Amino acid sequence: MKTTISVIKADVGSIAGHAKTHVALLNKCDEILAKAKEEELLVDYHITNCGDDIDLIMTHRNGTENEEVHGLAWNAFIEATKVAKSLKLYGAGQDLLSDTFSGNIKGMGPGCAEMEFKERPSDPVIVFCCDKTEPGAFNMPIFKMFADPFNTAGLVIDPSLHGGYDFEIFDVIEHKKVTMSCPDEMYDALALLGSTGRYVIKHVTRRSDNEIAASISTERLNLMAGQYIGKDDPVAIVRSQSGFPAAGEVVEPFAFPHLVSGWMRGSHNGPLMPVAQRNATPVRFDGPPRVIALGFQINNSELVGPLDMFDDPAFDRSRALASEVAEYMRRHGPFEPHRLPADEMEYTSLPGVLKMLEGRMKDMD
Ligand code: F6R
Ligand code: MG
Ligand code: MG
Repeated sequence: MKTTISVIKADVGSIAGHAKTHVALLNKCDEILAKAKEEELLVDYHITNCGDDIDLIMTHRNGTENEEVHGLAWNAFIEATKVAKSLKLYGAGQDLLSDTFSGNIKGMGPGCAEMEFKERPSDPVIVFCCDKTEPGAFNMPIFKMFADPFNTAGLVIDPSLHGGYDFEIFDVIEHKKVTMSCPDEMYDALALLGSTGRYVIKHVTRRSDNEIAASISTERLNLMAGQYIGKDDPVAIVRSQSGFPAAGEVVEPFAFPHLVSGWMRGSHNGPLMPVAQRNATPVRFDGPPRVIALGFQINNSELVGPLDMFDDPAFDRSRALASEVAEYMRRHGPFEPHRLPADEMEYTSLPGVLKMLEGRMKDMD
């Protein structure tokens, strides 16, 4: 029998402004998922939040893209929205783009990462949840986990990883996808993956047997809605150990707080700070962007754990570096590269300014 892990997330309201989900929303989701567990749609679940996003981590036996499981998550977000509205929380229901559920949560606002696999004798899985960034934020760390021998020693010294991994890459602008193999096609894959706003890793599989290794949410809310209506704060599921990177190799890339897009108004670059779940409260200039990591053992589809993986003093220096980089970036104010280039900004007054200057803008000699 196979196990499916579905992580479905949405921002349906927060305090104060966009900083943190209210506990009443988490309780509402808990009530709904507990019932689904009782009715055996779910085997198990864990609810968490990163900043203003609710993350529903669910296990079941229904496969990926299951209508009932997606409908359950949708319903939980709808009910949580009602609570958010009753408390006048900020951005109540902001990620829900439709009034009615139509079979699959994809394209409706929430983000979704899923994978189905036959459990090994022991199956450690790490779930990452971000706030104030976009799916491309995972490109660098996922690449490092599965393709960079300076991060993952196992790629060099463990025969079960030595064959490399395939990366399924989505072009979220043209709606195309391609699978590229590492290490063989590493340089070509990096040529795409460096463009984090356009090319995003969706799945990673092990080349030797096509076994699923990682799954990332790739929804871009602003592209779906055709205008800025919220962030596409992503989630990812990564399997580890015995033929996959060790748990320590999976979290290692986040020791470097790389620059990602999505800080303040979805329009600024800033460092991705790895934090314990209790510190997933992006407040300074609505940030800096955060990532949490929850480690589980999967036991007959049940979730054993979690271990809050970044709640480790060994990441203190990464957090200190992220704070220093945040300070440095902030001093650029409205200038690039802190502010995103005009065509990538979620909010922009530029068209209005250019219109106002129409009569005054002259041809250069
Ligand atoms: C939301 C976010 C925030 C908001 C900002 C302005 O996830 O990234 O930085 O963009 O707080 O929000 P509004 O436009 O709602 O006042
Ligand atoms: Mg928000
Ligand atoms: Mg958010």
